[in-house]
Amino acid sequence: MKDSEPSGSAPFSAETYFATQPPPPSLDHDMATVRSFVRKQTERGMKVVLVTSGGTTVPLERNMVRFLDNFSAGTRGATSAEYFIKAGYSVIFMHRQFSLQPFSRHYSHSTNPFLDLLEIEHTNTNPSSPLTAVPNITVTPSKREDLLEVLAMYKKVHHDETMLTLNFATVNDYLWMLRAISHELSLLGRSVMYYLAAAVSDFFLPSQKMSEHKIQSGKGSLHIEMDQVPKILKSIVDEWSREGFIVSFKLETDPALLLPKCRQALERYGHQVVIGNDLHRRKFEVVFVSRNGPNVTEKASNTSNNNFGAGESHLSEYWLRLGTSDASASSLQHPREIEEDIVRELERRHQLWIDAAS
Ligand code: PMT
Repeated sequence: MKDSEPSGSAPFSAETYFATQPPPPSLDHDMATVRSFVRKQTERGMKVVLVTSGGTTVPLERNMVRFLDNFSAGTRGATSAEYFIKAGYSVIFMHRQFSLQPFSRHYSHSTNPFLDLLEIEHTNTNPSSPLTAVPNITVTPSKREDLLEVLAMYKKVHHDETMLTLNFATVNDYLWMLRAISHELSLLGRSVMYYLAAAVSDFFLPSQKMSEHKIQSGKGSLHIEMDQVPKILKSIVDEWSREGFIVSFKLETDPALLLPKCRQALERYGHQVVIGNDLHRRKFEVVFVSRNGPNVTEKASNTSNNNFGAGESHLSEYWLRLGTSDASASSLQHPREIEEDIVRELERRHQLWIDAAS
């Protein structure tokens, strides 16, 4: 759910929201794992990134049968998390339940079903006698190299304990978790990055207004008045994580709105980077909007840089685009992914942000 007609009722502040909406039952348990993860990464002197990924839902009933959803498969978040790991970050991957996840995303049931990788090796050479031994299962030779690469990284991440995975479904889960995780991460000061790629509902139904049971049909059209979800980015920047390096995303479908909306978000929330993406071009083109300053002085090699007009000369835009040769294949036989370039550029800017403090 994104843009229904605003109702006109006063928006919830973040404070009112958390004072009136119940926390998810698993919050305390999840936060105990976050606390222990953060402690471990602090001892190791690791940089940590919180990646949010996937869309949030808005339930219409407390015993939920129906809900509204936000668009996002989780590709951006899951892919980026892998590149953050490769760049030496520890990752808290907070994602929508059942959306794509790092590593397993390569074998999604719809695009690359896992069973298609496997072959049954029959060892019994006498076809007339019943099989006595369980046959071996092997990986199709042409798929082995790619699988080995993904598997090796997956095993290493498990062994090194450099990734913690948490999931949400509703916008309420998301908001409570984000607040609690930010609280833990604020202890890391500038070493933490927020990579907020999740698509978050703008409107919700407060639990007090929600029907207890399934809404009954048969009475004609359904009218629901929703409240505005507080803009949580503001609270992260101003209160929960003043030193963190904060990156938000902006999705638009009208290309003419993309840059104005990114600028508006940066001005409104005062964080470090807004990454704008158009729905149809998001896999091969994104724009970074940020303030001019030491964080953006050195450009990545494949970016183009433009300053805005006179009124916004303190803002810069950097376009990252995959070239046509990139899109075909890399040396590893799979197409290059724009997330690799996004993460490389963010890592560079984050390091400048850390260095600036000293
Ligand atoms: O997963 P994929 O299919 O690959 O798609 C990836 C994506 C297109 C969803 C992703 O790249 C993206 O653009 N995500 C942000 C989508 C968006 O525009 O969300 P938004 O307008 O609801 O929020 C913009 C920013 O404000 C977000 O970073 C969000 O964290 C923040 N926000 C949103 C709502 C809210 N109440 N408080 C917030 O702080």
